[in-house]
Amino acid sequence: MNRQHSVFSGIQPTGELHIGNYLGAIANWVKLQDEYECTYCVVDLHAMTMPYEAATLRRNIENMLIDLLACGIDPARAILCVQSMVPEHTELTWIFSCVCSYGDLTRQTQFKDKVDQLEDTQGAFISAGLFTYPVLQAADILLYRADYVPVGKDQEQHLELSREIVRRFNFQFGEYFPEPQVLSTETPKVLSMADPTRKMSKSLGPKHYIGLFEDEKGVRSKVKSAVTDTGAGDLEKMSPGVENLFSLLRATGKVDTHNALMQEYKAGNRRYAPLKDAVADALVELTGGLRARRAEIAADPAAVWKLVGEMSARAREKANVTLREVRQRVGLPLR
Ligand code: TYM
Repeated sequence: MNRQHSVFSGIQPTGELHIGNYLGAIANWVKLQDEYECTYCVVDLHAMTMPYEAATLRRNIENMLIDLLACGIDPARAILCVQSMVPEHTELTWIFSCVCSYGDLTRQTQFKDKVDQLEDTQGAFISAGLFTYPVLQAADILLYRADYVPVGKDQEQHLELSREIVRRFNFQFGEYFPEPQVLSTETPKVLSMADPTRKMSKSLGPKHYIGLFEDEKGVRSKVKSAVTDTGAGDLEKMSPGVENLFSLLRATGKVDTHNALMQEYKAGNRRYAPLKDAVADALVELTGGLRARRAEIAADPAAVWKLVGEMSARAREKANVTLREVRQRVGLPLR
C-alpha cells in the first residue's frame, strides 16, 4: 500500500445509488482501497443544501452506508464515516470560506443548474448553504490532506475550486496542503437512458437512471427503452445513446462482447437489440450480486452504526491533526 498518498471521496445520501455513481466513482473507491489510505464519507451536510425532509435524510444516510458496504467498501482497509459525525468538516469550512473568493463561487455551474432546478419545481428559496457548498467540499477533501479524489466528471469544477483554495491558503499561510487531483474511471460521465444528451441523474426522474440495486425486470425494461438512434441520419458519427451503451458494456467488464458488437457496428449494423440485450445481461449480473450482499448487511443495521461510529472516531483523530496545524497557521488560539 502506498501510505505516502491518501484518497478522499464523498457521496450525498439523497436516495438510491445508480449505475452512474457506481461506474463513475464507487467502483474506483473500492479498487483504490488496496493502493492508498482511503477515507470515504456519506456527506449528509451537503444533502441539506436542497429542500428535504428530516426523516427521509436520516433513513437515506443509513441506506447509503449499507449500499457502500455492499459495494465493497471494507472497514478493514478504508475509513467509512458520516460527515456530520466529524464536526471538524464544518470548522475547516469556515476557515476556507475566508480564503475562497465570492467571485469563484458565483462561477460554479452546478450552483446555477440547481438554482434553475429549484426555480422550476420548488419556488425560489435558494439557501446560502447551496452557494457555499463547494467550500464544504474542499474542507472534506483537505481535512484529510487528500492527494487524490475519485469522482465523476460533474465534480471536476468543484475540484478545481478546491485546488484554488489550496493555492490561496498555501500562499497566505505557508505551504501545507497538497493540490488534490481527480481520479476518473473509464466512464466518468454515464448518460441518462431516456435522454442521452444529459448525465444520468436521479433528479431527472426514474426513467433516466438505473438503480444499482434495482430488480431484473426494472433493469431490462430501462435498457430496452434506452434512446439510441433511428438507424438513419449521420452514420459516420456514433450517437451519444449508442456510445453510452457501448461504454456500459466495457465498464461492466464485457470486453469481448463489446469488441464483437463494435465490429458489427463498424460494418454498418444499426440494429441495437443485441447490444441492449448484452448491456441488460451485464447489468443484471452486476446488480444481482450486489443485491444479495446488500440484503445480508441490511439485516443488522445496529452493527453498521457501531462500525461507522468507530470509523468516524478514527476520522476525527486524523481531522484534528490537520485542524491543529491549520489553527496555528491562521492565527487562532490552540484549544
Ligand atoms: P454525488 O453524491 O452527486 O455523486 C457521487 C459520485 O457519483 C458521481 N456521479 C457520476 N459519475 C458518472 N456518471 C454520472 N452520471 C454520475 N452521477 C454522479 C459523482 O461525480 C460523484 O463522484 N459534491 C459531491 C459529493 C461530495 C464530494 C466531496 C465528492 C461532497 N464532498 C468531496 C468528492 C470529494 C456530489 O454531490 O456527488
